[in-house]
Amino acid sequence: MIVISVANQKGGVGKTTTCVNLAGIFAHKGLRVLLIDADPQCNATSFFAEKPFEPSLSLSALFESSFSPKMNLVHPTRINNLSIIPGGFHLAGTVSFVSQYLEPHARIQRFLENNKDHFDIVLIDCPPDIGIFTLNALRASRWVLVPVQAKRMALDGFTLLKHHIDLMRSFGFSLELLGGVTTQYDARIKSQKEWQAHALTVFDKCHLGVVHQASEIAAACDRGELLWEQTVKKGRPFTEHLHLAREVASRIGVSLERP
Ligand SMILES: Nc1ncnc2c1ncn2[C@@H]1O[C@H](COP(=O)(O)OP(=O)(O)O)[C@@H](O)[C@H]1O
Ligand SMILES: [Mg+2]
Repeated sequence: MIVISVANQKGGVGKTTTCVNLAGIFAHKGLRVLLIDADPQCNATSFFAEKPFEPSLSLSALFESSFSPKMNLVHPTRINNLSIIPGGFHLAGTVSFVSQYLEPHARIQRFLENNKDHFDIVLIDCPPDIGIFTLNALRASRWVLVPVQAKRMALDGFTLLKHHIDLMRSFGFSLELLGGVTTQYDARIKSQKEWQAHALTVFDKCHLGVVHQASEIAAACDRGELLWEQTVKKGRPFTEHLHLAREVASRIGVSLERP
């Protein structure tokens, strides 16, 4: 089981869009995928559920003292091979209880260790901060994928995150930067071209791809659909995500080609 956090301390940079679409592509390619929605905004969950889940059936149960391994946090989705641990607005309310636990930052890690035979890839959609849920996600992860926009604040968000990745590595965690992906890119905007050049320097060989600004992507998000579910799969939004999925798979040593 390979665990990847999709994170950036800046909001609106495409974390959720990247996370759900990669999850859909990996699942379609036959990998057993678990998507964990660790953001109290629960945008990833809303791709798969019309109504919020009961707290006891969602990630927040992991952060309650009443948690038992028998609780059913993992739910199937309409996509074959893709399961989800949903988030929910109530996640935010659990923060104040968490510090009472031994190792409060290891709740997700412990859960995954006990379920490691069930999934090939786990993708964790992180909130735009470095609070308890992101720290739990990073601690459980081998890799961090960082969506950025070609904008100063998005790249600043990465700098802040990188500081925490380095800190965790210095404590002996085997967390590694998987790479960056530029999202919502519009090369007609001069400042974006300049910041994209900067992003390529910052991530260097770890810059894994570009997803251009596209109304189809925003519309699919609004409908709660993955790009893989669209009827037209040859457009640039889809092929750019497929390219990203291949780059990610190659970096983590997973084959996407079926035998
Ligand atoms: N490539 C894109 N083109 C157009 N809109 C996009 C693109 N990527 C993301 N969006 C839109 O931008 C908004 C923020 O994206 P989201 O994935 O929710 O960011 P985050 O999870 O980092 O907050 C969403 O409304 C989404 O539909
Ligand atoms: Mg999000």
